[in-house]
Amino acid sequence: MNFLLETLQVIVMSIYYNMEAFVRLFIPPKNKNVTGEIVLITGAGSGIGRLLAEKFAPLGVSLVLWDINQEGMEETSRLVQEKGATKVHYYLCDCSDKSEVYRVADKVKREVGDVSILINNAGIVTGRKFMDAPDSLIEKTFEVNTMAHFWTYKAFLPAMTANNHGHLVSIASSAGLIGVNGLADYCASKFAAIGFAESVALELLATGKDGVKTTIVCPFFINTGMFDGCTTKWPLLLPVLDPDYVANKIIEAILTDQVYLLLPRTMYLIIGLKNSLRWKQAALLGKYLGAFENPEHCNQKVINVTLAEWGHHNTLSLAVFQHIIPAKLGILLGMYLGAFNFMDAFKGRVKKVHCFEVEPVSPTDNQNHRC
Ligand SMILES: NC(=O)c1ccc[n+]([C@@H]2O[C@H](COP(=O)([O-])OP(=O)(O)OC[C@H]3O[C@@H](n4cnc5c(N)ncnc54)[C@H](O)[C@@H]3O)[C@@H](O)[C@H]2O)c1
Repeated sequence: MNFLLETLQVIVMSIYYNMEAFVRLFIPPKNKNVTGEIVLITGAGSGIGRLLAEKFAPLGVSLVLWDINQEGMEETSRLVQEKGATKVHYYLCDCSDKSEVYRVADKVKREVGDVSILINNAGIVTGRKFMDAPDSLIEKTFEVNTMAHFWTYKAFLPAMTANNHGHLVSIASSAGLIGVNGLADYCASKFAAIGFAESVALELLATGKDGVKTTIVCPFFINTGMFDGCTTKWPLLLPVLDPDYVANKIIEAILTDQVYLLLPRTMYLIIGLKNSLRWKQAALLGKYLGAFENPEHCNQKVINVTLAEWGHHNTLSLAVFQHIIPAKLGILLGMYLGAFNFMDAFKGRVKKVHCFEVEPVSPTDNQNHRC
């Protein structure tokens, strides 16, 4: 299409999507019907995972609960049955272990069926300054908070794409959008989880699998115990969130196919500012928001500050808009800028540097080395 025509089309559609988003502020979209769906929640033995299971209980779904905590899952299973769930299955599964994820996923497929709503919720935090965190804990953080998402997608996404139906939910964190003093490993693992979920979402759109929906959830501190002792400097601006409120918002986002959910709402503004302010301005704002304070009462499992140290971008970047504009408009702009085709002709690095052996990804894959 010619440049002028395509640009005009984007401008018109942008206005339309913005108006649509504005109308939706007053007339919320209809919830989709999830009766009969198979919902798998990792980390369902406590906190947000348990609450999500409880909220799904009366909706006529089959619930599949995963956790490393057997007692926690038993309790969740009891609670969801009290709330009306009739089909509940729970499995001990350490999501940080790829072979265990694949083994338990096969079991779920045999015993329950194909998962159609996958909620990657299990998460851990070491709560140590970067140099104080043992290597093993840093690796474990990535295995649970990031790599587990790769393995669960690999296990359950094929059935979703085959049916062009499903929903992938990533419970990430606002710490996956802004770096946080004293939380380097956790932040990096959540940044990676968001990058992964966002990229697969685009891959699904680009390949026409738009029946597989995606939701990325980025909350600030939630009062579940994970960040016990952490405080916020300005509770009105950045409140520590009530778990029940967060779970309700996540359910609402899933049922309305919302692509990004940032909580609290001020987080949309903060992310925008993070990407647009100059470094000194950003640091000043970070200080104002309490990002450099070290509350004495934050314990081992807990981070030391209440908010992020800010990014160092000096120019207004596209990312500013990413979480503020309606998702449809983001996709339209991405298409206009050719973002869906950047990688089309990419075949790997041309000048080979170093090759290593890899296992084939399918029986027809005969490339057993990558360079
Ligand atoms: N609590 C917060 O302030 C906060 C803020 C933003 C994002 N989050 C994210 O929300 C999600 C839920 O957190 P939460 O607050 O409910 O924490 P939580 O500690 O109450 O729940 C996490 C659950 O994950 C399970 N788990 C841990 N390692 C596992 C593993 N290897 N395999 C399977 N299950 C495992 C735990 O047993 C636990 O039941 C996490 O991903 C967390 O990073 C939490």
